[in-house]
Formats: sequence, C-alpha cells, structure tokens
Amino acid sequence: MTQAFRASIFHCLTDPGPGADPAAVEYFEDGLLVVEDGAVARLGPAEEVLKAIPEGTEVEDLTGKLIVPGLIDCHVHYSQLDIIASYGEQLLDWLNRYAYPAEASFADADHAREVADVFRDELLRNGTTTAMVFATVFPQSVDAIFAAAERRGMRLIAGKVLMDEMCPDELSDTPESAYAESKALIERWHGKGRLGYAITPRFALTSSEAQLREAGRLASEYPDVWVHTHLAENTEEVDQIAKQFAWSRSYLDVYDHFDLLRKRSVFAHCLYLDEQDRKLMADKGGAGAFCPTSNLFLGSGLFDLQSMVDAGVNVGLATDVGGGTSLSLLQTMNEAYKVLHLQQQSLPASRALHLATLGAAKALDLDARIGNFEAGKEADFIVLDATGSSITARRAQTTTSVDEQLFALIFLGDDRNVAATYLQGERTGVGKFDP
Ligand code: GUN
Ligand code: ZN
Repeated sequence: MTQAFRASIFHCLTDPGPGADPAAVEYFEDGLLVVEDGAVARLGPAEEVLKAIPEGTEVEDLTGKLIVPGLIDCHVHYSQLDIIASYGEQLLDWLNRYAYPAEASFADADHAREVADVFRDELLRNGTTTAMVFATVFPQSVDAIFAAAERRGMRLIAGKVLMDEMCPDELSDTPESAYAESKALIERWHGKGRLGYAITPRFALTSSEAQLREAGRLASEYPDVWVHTHLAENTEEVDQIAKQFAWSRSYLDVYDHFDLLRKRSVFAHCLYLDEQDRKLMADKGGAGAFCPTSNLFLGSGLFDLQSMVDAGVNVGLATDVGGGTSLSLLQTMNEAYKVLHLQQQSLPASRALHLATLGAAKALDLDARIGNFEAGKEADFIVLDATGSSITARRAQTTTSVDEQLFALIFLGDDRNVAATYLQGERTGVGKFDP
C-alpha cells in the first residue's frame, strides 16, 4: 500500500554538531513523504514527488505543519510514571523514598498492565515512537510493557530489572532467578515484531558480583540483546561504588569486568566519567543516555556532551521519568540546551532533534531501521503543530526559518504541539487530531 503525507518536512542526515551544519539536515518547506507498506519510500519537494507516485494514491494534506521523525527516548522507567515530580531528594534517598515503593506494586500484574497502557499512550501523545524502558524486577511487569507496545505496533526495548543487594527484600531477586527469568523473557519477546530485550541490572550498587557475572554470562549467550543500566549519576553513588568494588579502576570498569560493556550497551547518565572511561566506552561500542531533566531534578550534575562526542561515544536523549520530570522529549531538549549552555556548549535546534532521532537511533544501534527518512526505514513520524498552544501560535508568527521555528517549539512546546503520531505510516489515534 502506498501512502503520501504533504507538509513541511525536516530530518537529520548526520549530527549537525554545535555549529548547526546545514549539510547535516534536509528540509522541504512543501514536502511529500511517501510510505510503502510502512516503510519510507521517498521524500522530496511535493511538486516533484507528486508526479512520481502511483495514480490514485491518497495524499494526506498536513500543510502548515511540520513532519519530523518519531522521537526516541533512550532511557525511561515505566514503573515510575506515578511518582514523577516527587519532592526533595537526591538519587539514593529518592530511590528509597519514592522509586522502590512504587516499583513494589508491580508485583500485581493487573496494576502493571494498567500503567503500561497509560505509559505507552503518554509516550505516543508526546511524539515518542521508540523507547528503551526499565520495567521492574517482576517478570510480569516486563510482559505488561511488551504486550502494551505490541498492541500498538510500537518499537520498544525493555527488560526485567536485576537487583539482589542493598535494596528492599520485596524487590530482591537472586543471581539464579535473574538469569533464569531474563532468559525466559528473552526467549518470549526478543525479536518479536518490533520488540527487543535488554538485560537490565539496575546499577552496580544493587547487584552482587555473582549477579553481575550471571548478567554477563547471559549477555555473551545472546550477543544481539541490549544491556541497559545506570552509570555514574551521583557523587555519593560513585563513592559507594568505589568502596563496594575496591578492585575496580572506575565505575565503568565494574561493568566492563563483567562483560556488560559492548555494542548495544546503553548507560544512563554518565556524569562522572574520565577520559579513560569515555575512550573505553567508545572502543567497546557502548552508548550514553543524556537525561537532563532528571540530572537537574535530582541535583545530580551536568552531562558533558562534547567530551562524549569527542571521544566517539554515541549519545541519545532520554527522559528518565520518574527521576526525569517530563515524558516530552521537546521539554527534555529544552533542559538539555540549558545544561549545555551552563558548560559553554551549544545545542542548536537541529542538533537537539538529532539527539532524539538519528543520534538516539545510533545509540540504540537501530539506525538501520529508524531515526530519519532514509528510504527503506520504518515510517515512524510525528506531526508538529505550532498552533498547539496560544504561546507557540503567537511565537510562530515571528519565526522566520525552520531552525527558529523548531527552537521555539523545543522551548515552548509539549504534547499540545504533537498533532499526530504515526507508526509505520499508521496514525496511532492518541494525538491531538484524534478524539
Ligand atoms: N539508579 C539506579 N536506579 C535508578 C532509578 O530508578 N532512577 C535513576 N535516575 N537512577 C537510578
Ligand atoms: Zn533511570
């Protein structure tokens, strides 16, 4: 089946960098995106491409709006949806006071299913079409989020959280159950449709060495599954890691020691790394998830994007809800800009979009499938509408280029500006266009 969508269309071909390299992006003010059987077939100026599509193809007229690739959230906790914006703590106290009690309720499969469905639709409403998700220690919570994504045909990576030390008893597994339950979930879900599995040790503080060893063994048995964890987020955490793993050179060295650093390993935060860590991460193909709203909210620190990029590490943007304060990647780009500005680093709009599209796809090793509108990729895209709120509508009257328009949407926009979200060319039914 051929479909065509007419609107202004913008996407990245590579990283525009701090200087917003115009050659790194493509923009068609009056563009046509042609989709065939759910995949991108062609993109170009509407006038030209209209002549080349099969006769009778229905053209959806989205003139006046801006199509960009679906946004990609590289790190988020669905089980923390209901504790978003909980007051007053830094990481380790926040986990004990808010995150762990919330996660304990996911032992109840009905609760997990209810939250998973709401979470998935919140992602789509915010224009997020792919996410890498922490479930909880309970396998039924992993089943719930995969099933929710599957029902909408959404691309999603998730995994059972592994934690057997320094955590509440009701959330604790063991090295043996971590291995066995993860293996069963991999067999059930990995590679099923658009779903992928991530081996998910919470962080090295809450796993015994025996458990990290089992996680590494599983990773070596399944070389194409992802590894997903937290790394060097908070100074107190980093100090405790140094004591708990006194033999290690660094926090990253702990994961590397247990064979958890490789291509498709995604590390949330990465605030307290040194040059040697960054080089090791780049050499082994690991990626970093930049979580600005969470890093500010929990008072964790500032992510050094330039050093990561200079070292050759792939970086994608992430909301990290519930430590993060918004599921909107537009709002997350807004905070990313400020975090970088404080460090004399630049984040022009095109680079911000890259961090949440093609850059994020590279960080997840999914850039062959998603991230931009290269022919053959899956046609996940969103329709941004500058008239979504009164302030964005007003600001749109004075923007004079797509860069300015996007920049204003990043700062002022949210789910009100996501008019529709499409997965493989199909409108999902949770955007503003829909009841
Ligand atoms: N480190 C270990 N667990 C968590 C979590 O749930 N959220 C955040 N932000 N950091 C963590
Ligand atoms: Zn997190």
